[in-house]
Formats: sequence, C-alpha cells, structure tokens
Amino acid sequence: MDPIYENSGSVTVRPAQLEDAEAVLTIRNHAIEHSTALWTTTLQSPAEGAAWLAVHLDRGSAFVAEKAGGVAGFAVYEPWRPKDGYRHTVGNSVYVREGAHGLGIGSALMTALIASARQVGHHVMIADIEARNTPSIRLHERFGFRHVGTVPEAGTKFGRWLDLTIMRLPLD
Ligand SMILES: CC(C)(COP(=O)(O)OP(=O)(O)OC[C@H]1O[C@@H](n2cnc3c(N)ncnc32)[C@H](O)[C@@H]1OP(=O)(O)O)[C@@H](O)C(=O)NCCC(=O)NCCS
Repeated sequence: MDPIYENSGSVTVRPAQLEDAEAVLTIRNHAIEHSTALWTTTLQSPAEGAAWLAVHLDRGSAFVAEKAGGVAGFAVYEPWRPKDGYRHTVGNSVYVREGAHGLGIGSALMTALIASARQVGHHVMIADIEARNTPSIRLHERFGFRHVGTVPEAGTKFGRWLDLTIMRLPLD
C-alpha cells in the first residue's frame, strides 16, 4: 500500500491493514505489560487484537509507521465517547515500538492522524494521557494540543493512583 506520509528520516506512514494486527498487538501488549499508557493489565490474545484492529480498519482510522521495512508504530482515532452528542470529537492513540522512540516516528504518525481526522471533518481531537507521561505530553504540545485539565486519581495501575491529563486540538 502506498505511503500517505514520508519524512526525511525514512519513516513512512500508511493506512493499517489486517496483516498488521500481530505487529500492532505486540506493541500494545508491551505497553500493557510495562507502562501506564494503557490502563489495564489484561493482555490481548491474537484474536482480540485482530478484532480490535478490524473495528478501526472499517472506519479508516488506523495507521502504521514503517521504518526499515517493519512496523515501528501505530496510531488510531476513535469516538471519544459513545453517545451521539460526541460524534464530532475523536480520541487519539499513538504508540511507537520499544527501542524506536525519539526517531520521529510518533511525529510522523501524528501528522497523518491529524490530517485524516481533518479530512473526514471531525471538529476536535482529544488525548487522554497519564499525567506523568512526559514524552506523550510533549509530542501532543508540539502538534498544537493544549492542556485543558487533569483529573486526579482517575485510575490505578501497578499499585498507585494515576492522574489523567486531557489535551485538546481544534481540527477546524
Ligand atoms: C509518546 C511516543 C508516541 C512519542 O513517539 P516518538 O516517536 O518517540 O516521538 P518523536 O521522536 O516523534 O518525538 C516527538 C516529540 O515527542 C517528545 N518526546 C519524545 N520522546 C521524549 C522523551 N523521552 N522525553 C520528552 N519528550 C519526548 C518531544 O517533544 C519530541 O519532539 P522534539 O524531539 O522536537 O523535542 C512514544 O514515546 C511512545 O510510544 N511511548 C509509549 C506509548 C505511549 O505512551 N503512547 C502515548 C499514550 S497517551
């Protein structure tokens, strides 16, 4: 599939395909096991990972970044809340494979993600970020997201409370 974004560091971004499910699952399960980026400790099976990705493929809202021929990261946007009044607002997720951080891959994914959400006509993109996740907060700031609030102790993982930082980007 043709790339929709390419940067000077030979990172390409293209729409995700079902064949990417295993690579995406590996990245997600690593984040579940080792980080507070995803607020769960329940790993996904290959079938669950494929079903999760398939929902995004139907919407055209999933992208993968390739570097040196392999999937190095993925990004999705999805309805921020299920009720129809939120239908013009999307939440985003950006994940880069461990060992490939700091190479511009998250930025490449974010560029493609925002462009796609704008093209579809969404109004606002929101990032729900664990408050101590400085790399993610900086990445979002760099793309114009602004901090609109923090919910103290909104969740828990690894035996401690987690604060939720909410960042907002107007799309139109
Ligand atoms: C957050 C994440 C997606 C950033 O992706 P990345 O490919 O490493 O980011 P980039 O190389 O494109 O860097 C983009 C910006 O992010 C910020 N950033 C990246 N790594 C950082 C770090 N270790 N510390 C502080 N800021 C950092 C910087 O602002 C950077 O821009 P700059 O280099 O011009 O200052 C990546 O760290 C990641 O996958 N983390 C684990 C999963 C996660 O937390 N996802 C977000 C859930 S809300």
